[in-house]
Amino acid sequence: MRKSIQAVRGMHDLLPEEARLLRHVEETAREVLEGYGYEEIRLPVVERTELFRRTLGEATDIVEKEMYTFDDHGESLSLRPEGTAGCVRAAIEHGLCFRQVRRLWYRGPMFRHERPQKGRYRQFHQVGAEAFGLAGPELDAELILLTVRLWRRLGLDPERDLELQLNTLGTPEERAAYRERLVAYLERRREELDPDSLRRLRTNPLRILDSKHPAMRPVIEAAPRLLDHLGEASRERFRRLCALLDLAGVPHRVAPCLVRGLDYYTHTVFEWVTHRLGAQGTVCAGGRYDGLVGQLGGHETPAAGFALGLERVAALLQELGRVPEAAVPHAFLVMAGEAALEAGLAWGERLREACPWLRLVQGGEGSLRAQLRRADRSGARYALILGEEEAARGTVSLKPLREELPQRSWERDLVLERLAREGEGAWEALAAGAPGAGA
Ligand code: HAM
Repeated sequence: MRKSIQAVRGMHDLLPEEARLLRHVEETAREVLEGYGYEEIRLPVVERTELFRRTLGEATDIVEKEMYTFDDHGESLSLRPEGTAGCVRAAIEHGLCFRQVRRLWYRGPMFRHERPQKGRYRQFHQVGAEAFGLAGPELDAELILLTVRLWRRLGLDPERDLELQLNTLGTPEERAAYRERLVAYLERRREELDPDSLRRLRTNPLRILDSKHPAMRPVIEAAPRLLDHLGEASRERFRRLCALLDLAGVPHRVAPCLVRGLDYYTHTVFEWVTHRLGAQGTVCAGGRYDGLVGQLGGHETPAAGFALGLERVAALLQELGRVPEAAVPHAFLVMAGEAALEAGLAWGERLREACPWLRLVQGGEGSLRAQLRRADRSGARYALILGEEEAARGTVSLKPLREELPQRSWERDLVLERLAREGEGAWEALAAGAPGAGA
């Protein structure tokens, strides 16, 4: 026997049940986003490596070691590790954010060469939203309120199932000044730093605040706080956002060590975290990135956004048992004998044509009994049976599969007409033997 080929590590298959759940999250997000005026944009999965270098930051984990980068005839390209950079690139390229307010959203796979574990994959899916042209904290509040609405629509309680963590990084100048203070402080405690933090001390010291290393806890707790080193305007801006959230009744926790793993943020950053998924508990994250459009060659444009990790939201729904039921077929079309197959296939197509809502599955090969067994396993409520006799007479037998009701024979044209006219309600009436309104 030949050796079978398996999926690449960290790139998982989404089997039908998981795909259905992901689609449910994605579709609910689409509805909510469209309700706030966000328009979908479809972006390439591959971009120039330079784009990510310039936006995410040279010293970030993603750019340093997690990108899938390859040479394409002398040009360095990368699979996108996230969606903001590409969205901003496209917005500038097509003039979508020039002197206008524009709200965009996207979905799709992202790629990061991380160490795979539960909730962390090398290919995962995001729904992201990016809004351009609004500088005030009202937009930050809008984005957060939108996510609250999404949680509710998905049957999640934004207070019990999740926690909103919020912080501000101030302006780039404030951040740079704070960085110096932080480095000076960490240098004084150099002895206590773990190897990873020591490395970051030179490259990306703010990320040390994010360290999960237990030995780092006392060091981080006593570190100067960014919030205390911001100018009055930035602090006032953050106070206003918190007040807007209070006004809307959205509980939040100010998390002074929340710095995010990407360099483009300014002012507001936030994460929705759940304690129900173990270590990978951040299901949604985002913030403001006022400098990014200018940095990529566009006109200075304020902007903010967020992205959901679809696998993680789906896992949370599963954990809490908030999984929508699968759509089972309405009926199975069971056909036995050549004449029945010919008549049944043609009739099935006419039925589908007349009833676009219909989920009708063909019974497949094998005996009537084998096909009925398949129908039963599928969860379908009815079997529509065509044997030799039905084929010859222009009838079909309707067999309820979930109720103790007798099988009834109907003219095929009549069944089609009633399903087309009365919709899904016709099934029960037909099963009960009730004549139609026009009969
Ligand atoms: P991020 O925090 O890197 O932000 O990713 C957003 C979300 O994607 C995370 O909170 C998590 O749910 C999910 N995620 C990230 N990495 C993985 C992974 N390896 N496996 C599974 N899920 C993952 C961004 O990507 C920013 N572009 C968000 C943003 C948009 N900021 C402003 N606009």
